[in-house]
Amino acid sequence: MVGYPPPVPHPIWPLVDVRVRTLLLRLRRPTDDDCVALAQLAAAGVHDPACMPFDIPWTDAAPGELEQGALRWWWRQRAEWQPERWTFTGAVFVDDQPVGVPDLVGEDVSRLRVVHTGSWLGRRFQGRGIGREMRAAILQLAFAGLGAAHADSSASTDNPASLAVSRALGSVDKGETVKLRRGVAARNRTLRLDRAGWLRSRRDDIAIDPLGPCLAWFGLSGAAAGGEPAPVPAVRTAVAPGRIRPARSRRRRGWSAAASGLPVAG
Ligand SMILES: CC(C)(COP(=O)(O)OP(=O)(O)OC[C@H]1O[C@@H](n2cnc3c(N)ncnc32)[C@H](O)[C@@H]1OP(=O)(O)O)[C@@H](O)C(=O)NCCC(=O)NCCS
Repeated sequence: MVGYPPPVPHPIWPLVDVRVRTLLLRLRRPTDDDCVALAQLAAAGVHDPACMPFDIPWTDAAPGELEQGALRWWWRQRAEWQPERWTFTGAVFVDDQPVGVPDLVGEDVSRLRVVHTGSWLGRRFQGRGIGREMRAAILQLAFAGLGAAHADSSASTDNPASLAVSRALGSVDKGETVKLRRGVAARNRTLRLDRAGWLRSRRDDIAIDPLGPCLAWFGLSGAAAGGEPAPVPAVRTAVAPGRIRPARSRRRRGWSAAASGLPVAG
C-alpha cells in the first residue's frame, strides 16, 4: 500500500510549518504576501474608531502608515524570535480568505509554562463565532502542542467581545489593573485559563501538524511539551459568510451588524 510521505520540515526556519486546523478555519505563520493582505484587512477596519482596544494604539496610524507599521511589527517579531522569548503571530483563514491574527506570547515557557494570547479580526468578520474559534485554535497550540500550564489574556473592561471569548473558553477572572489607552486611564481585566480548565472542554476536532523541530524554537523538548498530539485528519466544511455562528446564539445576545462594533475604551 502506498502512503503519503511525511512532510519535509523546512531546513532553516521550521516555524513556517506550524499549522492548526479546525472545521472552520486554518491557522499558520503568515508569509510576506499574507502579511500584506492582513495589513490591508486591518486598514479596512478592526474596531470602531471611537474606541481603542489595544495597549499599543497601532490602528490609529494614518492610512499607509498603518499597513507599513503592521508589516514592521510582524517582521520584527519574526526576526527577534528567541526560544526564551517569542511571539507566535498566526494568520487565520476562513474559506481561504485571511480574516485576522491571533498572537501567542511566551517567555521562558519551559520553566514558567505561561503563555499570553491576543487577537483581532477584520471588522466584517466579527460577531460570527470566528474569534472564539480562533482562540480555541491558538489555545490548542498552547496546551496540546506546547504543554502550557496557564494561558492569560487581558482586555479593557469595556471590550465585551474579547472578555466573552475568554470566558466562553473557560478562563476565569484574575483581577484588574489600570492601563493608559490613548493617554486615558482604562480598567483592564486579566483572565486565566489553566490546564485543568482547558482539559475539561478539550476539543478533539482541532488538528496541529507535528511540531517536531519547532519545539526547540519554543524553548521546549518533546518531553517538556508533554509529547506531541496526534494530528487529527483535516475535514473542511465550507461555511457561508454570516452563517458561521448558529442563528440561535446571535438571537440570544441580540446580535446585529450595527451592534458588532466595540464600545469606547477608557
Ligand atoms: C475580540 C474579537 C477577536 C472577538 O471575535 P468575534 O468573532 O467578534 O467574537 P465571537 O463572534 O467569536 O463571539 C465570542 C463571544 O463573544 C460574545 N460577543 C461578541 N461580540 C460581542 C459584543 N459586541 N458584545 C457582547 N458580547 C459579544 C459572543 O456572544 C460570544 O459569546 P458566546 O459564544 O457565549 O455566544 C473581535 O471582536 C475583534 O477583533 N475585536 C476588535 C479587536 C479586539 O478588541 N481585540 C482584542 C483586544 S484585547
